[in-house]
Amino acid sequence: LFCDAGTVHGEPKCGIKSSSSSSKILIKGGTVVNAHHQEIADVYVEDGIIVAVHPNIKVGDDVTVLDATGKYVMPGAGVDFLFLLMNFIIHVGRSETLEVSAYFFVYLTTTNALPGTLTGGIDPHTHLAMEFMGTETIDDFFSGQAAALAGGTTMHIDFIIPVDGSLTAGFEAYKKKAKNSCMDYGFHMAITKWNEVVSEEMEVMVKEKGINSFKFFMAYKGSFMINDDLLLEGLKRCKSLGALAMVHAENGDAVFEGQKRMIELGITGPEGHALSRPPLLEGEATSRAIRLAKFVNTPLYVVHVMSIDAMEEISKARKSGMITLILYVMSPPIRASGHDKALQAALATGVLQLVGTDHCTFNSTQKTYGIDDFRKIPNGVNGIEERMHLVWDTMVETGRISVTDYVRITSTECARIFNIYPRKGAILVGSDADIIILNPNSSFEITATSHHSRSDTNVYEGRRGKGKVEVTIAGGRIVWENDELKIVPGSGKYIEMLPFSYLYDGIEKADAKYLSSLKAPVKRFTSTA
Ligand code: URP
Ligand code: ZN
Ligand code: ZN
Ligand code: ZN
Repeated sequence: LFCDAGTVHGEPKCGIKSSSSSSKILIKGGTVVNAHHQEIADVYVEDGIIVAVHPNIKVGDDVTVLDATGKYVMPGAGVDFLFLLMNFIIHVGRSETLEVSAYFFVYLTTTNALPGTLTGGIDPHTHLAMEFMGTETIDDFFSGQAAALAGGTTMHIDFIIPVDGSLTAGFEAYKKKAKNSCMDYGFHMAITKWNEVVSEEMEVMVKEKGINSFKFFMAYKGSFMINDDLLLEGLKRCKSLGALAMVHAENGDAVFEGQKRMIELGITGPEGHALSRPPLLEGEATSRAIRLAKFVNTPLYVVHVMSIDAMEEISKARKSGMITLILYVMSPPIRASGHDKALQAALATGVLQLVGTDHCTFNSTQKTYGIDDFRKIPNGVNGIEERMHLVWDTMVETGRISVTDYVRITSTECARIFNIYPRKGAILVGSDADIIILNPNSSFEITATSHHSRSDTNVYEGRRGKGKVEVTIAGGRIVWENDELKIVPGSGKYIEMLPFSYLYDGIEKADAKYLSSLKAPVKRFTSTA
C-alpha cells in the first residue's frame, strides 16, 4: 500500500495506493487491437496472464469487471517517444550489391511531438537511476515506471552502464537499482571498453543474464565513447552471440572539437550544445556504423539520429529569441520542427518501425550545473509517460496510421526485435496481462504539475491532444484507473530476452554465399600474345 518510492528523492506525485486485490479481471465490450487485427471482444485475465479473448465471456462475482465499450483495448508495451526526442527504428534495408545482407535498424530522434502512444506500450529506450555527467537522473526505476504506467507503457528496456568497464558489476548494480520496480523491465548493456574479460562477459550476459543487445557510444568523448576498433570487435562479438548491436551515432572526436570551437568563440550558453554537434556529425557516425555493420554482416540498431537541416531550424529559433533551451538539452540535440513530418511519414509507411523515448530526466537545478558552460548540462529529457498519448494524437488522430499500426509501432515491433513476442506485445491467450484501455474521445494535457515523473519540467509542456489511456493493467493488476496510480514496489519482473531474434534470419545464408563467392575461381588477366 504505498509508494515508498521515496526514500531518496521523494514520492512520485499523486495517489499511489495498494493495487486492486482481485487477480481476476474481465474487460468487457472493447475493441481489442493487435498488430494485425482488431475485433470487438472481451478479455479475461487471471493471475497475470490472458486466458481468454472472445465475445460474451461470462464470469462469477469474484471478478473485477471493466467496461471498455467504445474504447480500445491494447497490449501494454513501450518504446519511448519524445517531443524533443522521439526515437524510431528505421529499416534501412538489405544490401544486395556486396552479396552480404544485413538489416539495419536506425533509431531516430526528432524534436517535435510525434503524437501518440500505443496502449500498453514497451519503451525500448530509457535511462532510470543513471549516473551521468556528474549527477544522477531524477527518475529512478520506481518513479520512472510510475510515470510510464500512468501513460500506458507497461514495460521498458533500460541501459546498464558498466562499472569501470565491468559488465558483471554493472549488471549487479542495475539489479539493485531495479529492485523496487513496479512494472516489468529488461536491460540493454553498454560497452565502454574492450578486453578479453569484456568479450567473455558479453557471452555470460547473453547466455545467463537475459541480455540480447549491446550499445556502443560513438559520442561522449572521455566517458562512454569507443573507437572504430572497439566497435568492430563489438559488432563481431554481437554477431557471434546473436545479440543486437546498438549505436549512439555522433562523431565524439568532432563533437569535442566543436565544443572547443564554441568555447573559443565565447558561446558558453545552452545554444552552444546544438551548435557544437551539428547534424553533419550524426550523419557521419551513422553512415560509418551502418557500413561497418554491413562489413561484418550483422544487424544494427542506430539510436537517435537527427536530420540535416535541423541546424538551420535551431539557428532560426535562436534568431526568433527562443531561449531557456538548457532545460531540454539532450544528445543528439533537439532540432526544430520540419523533420518531424518526414519522420511521421516514414513511420506511417513502415520505413520507421518503432518509437522510443530515451527518457533521461534531470530537474532544473541539475540542468543549471551547466549554466555557464553548456558542456556541463546533463543531457536528457522526459518522454516515458508521454509517448503513447503523443503517438496516438499525432499519428492515429490525424489519420496517418491505423489503430493496428499504432499497436505495432508502440508495442509489438519492440517485442519482436528484442525477442519477447508474443509474451509481450500482444493480446493473445497466454500473453502477459499488460493491457491498456484507451478512450479515443477523451483528451490529455501534458504539464509538469500533473505528470508523474519527479522532474520539475516537461519538454512537452502544454501539449494537448485526443486519446487518453484511462486504464493500465500491468502483470494482471489494475495499476492506473480514474487518474490514480495503484502500484506496488517490487511487483515488476525482470524479463530475460533471448538472442537470435528474427533480425538474424538470413544472416547465415548470406555469409555462406559471400564465402563461396570468394572461393569461386577468379578470372585472371591473361596475355593473348
Ligand atoms: O541526451 C541523452 N540522450 N541522454 C541519455 C544518454 C544517451 O545518449 O542515450
Ligand atoms: Zn497521479
Ligand atoms: Zn545515446
Ligand atoms: Zn539514451
